[in-house]
Amino acid sequence: MVDRSDNELDAWDRDHFFHPSTHMAQHARGDSPNRIITGGEGVYITDRNGKRSLDGFGGLYCVNVGYGQSRIADAIAEQARKLAYYHAYAGHGSEASITLAKMVLDRAPAHMSRVYFGLSGSDANETNIKLVWYYNNVLGRPEKKKIISRWRGYHGSGLMTGSLTGLALFHNAFDLPRTPILHTEAPYYFRRPDLAMSEDAFAQHCADKLEEMIEAEGADTIAAFIGEPMLGTGGIVPPPAGYWEKIQAILAKHDILLIADEVVTGFGRMGTMMGSDHYGLKPDLITIAKGLTSAYAPLSGTIVSDTVWRVLEQGSDELGVIGHGWTYSAHPLCAAAGVANLELLDELGLVDNAREVGAYFNAVLKDAVGGHPIVGEVRGDGMLAAVEFVADRDSRTFFDPAAKVGPRIAAALLERGVIGRAMPQGDILGFAPPLCLSREEADIIADAVKGAVEAVAAEL
Ligand SMILES: Cc1ncc(COP(=O)(O)O)c(C=O)c1O
Repeated sequence: MVDRSDNELDAWDRDHFFHPSTHMAQHARGDSPNRIITGGEGVYITDRNGKRSLDGFGGLYCVNVGYGQSRIADAIAEQARKLAYYHAYAGHGSEASITLAKMVLDRAPAHMSRVYFGLSGSDANETNIKLVWYYNNVLGRPEKKKIISRWRGYHGSGLMTGSLTGLALFHNAFDLPRTPILHTEAPYYFRRPDLAMSEDAFAQHCADKLEEMIEAEGADTIAAFIGEPMLGTGGIVPPPAGYWEKIQAILAKHDILLIADEVVTGFGRMGTMMGSDHYGLKPDLITIAKGLTSAYAPLSGTIVSDTVWRVLEQGSDELGVIGHGWTYSAHPLCAAAGVANLELLDELGLVDNAREVGAYFNAVLKDAVGGHPIVGEVRGDGMLAAVEFVADRDSRTFFDPAAKVGPRIAAALLERGVIGRAMPQGDILGFAPPLCLSREEADIIADAVKGAVEAVAAEL
């Protein structure tokens, strides 16, 4: 890359680069900081000015094996030299894509059968919706098409996947959500409508809300329910105990498919290979992305169960070739990255590390700030954690969003050398570090969070 002066690159960035999830006007005016990242090693990233930060969010909860793994870089380079591209249509494949399919199935629940590869979590969920519709058409149930998602679920930002997402930011001014997507209660105990509700009563409340919706709409119009095993972008919230058992019983009763969106929870983040293992889910379709390649290359997938696969095969026999595919489906470079990444995940014992250090990280975070007057809850599971801020703990009064308490704490944290994510809805600081985090690095994050919370609280 040609070396540019900071000023020139900065000007190009402000003038030409349309950044995702960014305040466009502030960025263009230069009113908000921009940061050009140039390197990464382990859990640290380095910017162009030489400033290092401990990345407590693993990029966007995706750099699971950590930065700078040359084994994956070498696998991509070797594949690029040998065969940079060939498509996967009409039965074609590469050694890497076939090997990765086998590796994914070996790590998925036993009743899963096939994996379709895409490029992003969003396109994988788009595939899911199409497969669910195809499935019901093949079964002769053309009315059974609605998909139930949850408020605060995150499933992407395309037209249909942005509709599945249950966050206002991703709907506003985009005319979303679109039919036939419906949203039910978020399994978010801290934000339960009635503070007197026990966890068990709240799980039952969520299940009752779902069943009411199914009955009001008619079960013969509902095709599938989609959920992240643990809510991610909606707030990093473990489900209340018993939630998934109750939800799955209702889905089974009404013959509604379950899509487990494991884009964040897949491949070790919960301390188990899949989040479905951790929470006892038996999904019909599983969405994977992020941890599949640790984001060394863009790759996603839809894992299809035996039952759904049999219907898809029947569909081909009746209708011919399936009309679904992208030029870059199962791209060999990305598949090679996936193979090397999953090998590393095993060899470095990162699933166990996520469980052990994840539990330690959650504990030290709670010790550091759990008792602070502006902290309403410290919660997490596996290598996922969040701190939610409140103006008053006893009455659970939230801050005025205009005070931007969450973003200010995230900024104060960055000043202390640690990246946490101000989650998009609510004053919530989220963490999803690389799965290779050490106890010492967990301590560094917790200390920095304490300093940041105290500094911002003093200004309020
Ligand atoms: C659970 C979940 N599903 C889907 C997506 C969308 O993935 P992508 O951003 O790769 O389209 C994300 C992204 O964060 C996610 O967290």
